[in-house]
Amino acid sequence: MSQQRYSQFVRRLGGRGAGAWGIHGRALAARSRGEDVIVMSVGDPEFDTPATVAEAAHAALRAGDTHYTDMRGRQALRELIAARHRARTGQDVDAGNVVVVPGAQAGLFCASMCLGNPGDEIITTDPVYTTYEATIRASGATLVTVPLDSTRRFRIDLERLDAAVNDRTRAIFLANPNNPTGTVLHEDEMNFVVDLAARHGAWIVADEVYAEQVFDAPFVHFASLERSRERLVTVSSLSKSHAMTGWRLGWMVVPAEMAAHLENLMLAMLYGMPGFIQAAAIAALRECDGEVDAMREAYRRRRDLAMSQLADCRGIGCVRPDAGMFMLLDVSATGLAGGEFAARLFEEQGVSVLDAAAFGVAGEGYVRIAFAGADERLAEGCRRIRAFVDSLRPGAGQAAQLR
Ligand SMILES: Cc1ncc(COP(=O)(O)O)c(C=O)c1O
Repeated sequence: MSQQRYSQFVRRLGGRGAGAWGIHGRALAARSRGEDVIVMSVGDPEFDTPATVAEAAHAALRAGDTHYTDMRGRQALRELIAARHRARTGQDVDAGNVVVVPGAQAGLFCASMCLGNPGDEIITTDPVYTTYEATIRASGATLVTVPLDSTRRFRIDLERLDAAVNDRTRAIFLANPNNPTGTVLHEDEMNFVVDLAARHGAWIVADEVYAEQVFDAPFVHFASLERSRERLVTVSSLSKSHAMTGWRLGWMVVPAEMAAHLENLMLAMLYGMPGFIQAAAIAALRECDGEVDAMREAYRRRRDLAMSQLADCRGIGCVRPDAGMFMLLDVSATGLAGGEFAARLFEEQGVSVLDAAAFGVAGEGYVRIAFAGADERLAEGCRRIRAFVDSLRPGAGQAAQLR
């Protein structure tokens, strides 16, 4: 055992999410060796970032935009984000309510650090995106998870949420749309959450990174519900909507007082976002609505493609997503646990998917497939998943495991 002494904080950063990516790492390594693998384990859009965005970054670099910038993000960018947020939600915010952060992930982390204390409780759903556990625990607050209802396509269970909230509850973190389930909250569910949070003086942290990729469900922003606004943090980014995962550009929309705390946190942690990235973000928000719409349509088509290829496959059940770039498959009828299914699928068919138990206990018995890649690869991945499931049937080789 190491004699070095590390902080309690470092220990809180471990956990379920940190170890979830083993198969994904193996798949990337196999792909780089030239092996025929299909990577369906990650939500990184295969689209190129729109050319106008890359050009704006190049132009800014050529113009020498390579120095320190403002702690909260540049005024022009914050004004654009505020205007976009106002137009979408009706919430009366301006640049003073916006802080630019390196991706929604950093936004979630900053929200946790600004809101949570040891002894507090912070609530999120189970399942939810793998980083939430460490992100919430980082603050020292206790993580409390509320299982989503797997019998109703993983809708939120309001009774269980009600039972989990108490006067120690400091915040409720909700990914809406959710990753990995692809579920979008209904307005009546959101009103319930808002009332519950208000009664207990808790914040709502709304992670809306997939808000531009909603296919058929009506989508409501928490910020559109007036009663939510006093203690609301909205987190979003360009990662998914603009195929800009590697640019690390996200934002938080918060009450002005919290923006001042975030400025101090940015000062201590980051000292401002790169100027050329912010120039690119301005171009993305001003000029790329057409590309965003086209990518949403591509994800919708891929969702439908995956559904049509897998919905009638005996042995797995598809959880049809309303949004995003992921779908959960119930693999419990194969008799394999999610992790075992994922490992064997990779070994036998060269397809990488994630064991959904990485997203929480409620994900056990499921795997998550991503439809971020091109249609042909997705179709081939689905074909191989079917072939693998078929091979588990009685009479198909030795592995007669299908119930
Ligand atoms: C629900 C959810 N929130 C946040 C993030 C992080 O996004 P970003 O790239 O903006 O940090 C992801 C990334 O997959 C996600 O799925």
